[in-house]
Amino acid sequence: MPAPGALRVEHLGKRFGNRVAFEDVSFEVGYGEVFGFLGPNGAGKTTTVRVLGTLIAPTSGSAVVAGFPLGTENDQAVRARISIMPESPGLYLRLSVAENLRCFARLYGVADPEERTGRALEAVRLTDRAKDPCGSLSKGLRQRVALARALLNEPVVLFLDEPTSGLDPVATREVHELVAGLRSQGVTIFLTTHRLEEAERLCDRVAILSTTLRMTGRPDELRDRLFSKALEVRTRVPLAEPGSTFAGVPGVGGWGQSAPNAYTLTVTDVEVAAPALARALVGAGADILAIAEARRSLEDVYLELIGEDVEAGRR
Ligand SMILES: Nc1ncnc2c1ncn2[C@@H]1O[C@H](COP(=O)(O)OP(=O)(O)OP(=O)(O)O)[C@@H](O)[C@H]1O
Ligand SMILES: [Mg+2]
Repeated sequence: MPAPGALRVEHLGKRFGNRVAFEDVSFEVGYGEVFGFLGPNGAGKTTTVRVLGTLIAPTSGSAVVAGFPLGTENDQAVRARISIMPESPGLYLRLSVAENLRCFARLYGVADPEERTGRALEAVRLTDRAKDPCGSLSKGLRQRVALARALLNEPVVLFLDEPTSGLDPVATREVHELVAGLRSQGVTIFLTTHRLEEAERLCDRVAILSTTLRMTGRPDELRDRLFSKALEVRTRVPLAEPGSTFAGVPGVGGWGQSAPNAYTLTVTDVEVAAPALARALVGAGADILAIAEARRSLEDVYLELIGEDVEAGRR
């Protein structure tokens, strides 16, 4: 388990005039964790990143970032330990990849810009494109240069704001591999995304934001907290008396029918219910085609939590 404390956020909020970007947001991220920050457009994800990255001040609450409480006196200390890869890469298109990186390395005041540039290029596997002007690179490659730039100061906490937005599946997978590599080196990653499968694959824990925080936890924890467990059963022909077949099975709460020969059972404990159910079905003379745990995806959790907001936003 990572030690707690890379990010400690308490009742944080940011208002622009009367508009609330986000409010009352509290969570913790441990060192070495990959933390996913999910939410619909306008949920406040980028604003949260900007606040935690010391680019703008919060209007309420407090946060500790990489060991330092937010506040102007600590801005330098925080900035030395973090990096932000913003939604748009923001590179000098006429400069080459290496020139861009050297330029930012000097700006960040790193000790040996040349050496760091070389290492950042290696980390994103772009050494062979070092001399190409950034303007000639594809979107996916520019994104990798932006990631290299974010690595120049060897951050303890790396903020990635929608790192795969607009990328094709191949470029997306490359970014995923790079993130997994950084994680294995112990970098703490705060990743905003709309891609729920990305969050499910990459993140140890996720938070779901829609101006306020709706839920925080491991993806499987969120599923369990939000939905009751269920078993799906399919038999070769419809059961003659499903009610009495399911009635005495330990661990089974209720049941419903989703097709003539398919049933969904809510259960308290899958480990108890599934084997008992198989015995009961065999006892009733049924030919079992399938007994499977109903899998809820992170998408189900997400839609359940923010669905009403999205519908309200459309009205
Ligand atoms: N500088 C600003 N001035 C005024 N309002 C702002 C400013 N920046 C953000 N907002 C507002 O704050 C809210 C949250 O915006 P934010 O960019 O953080 O959302 P987001 O979750 O990153 O959305 P997206 O998924 O579209 O990137 C929005 O209503 C936005 O219009
Ligand atoms: Mg954003």
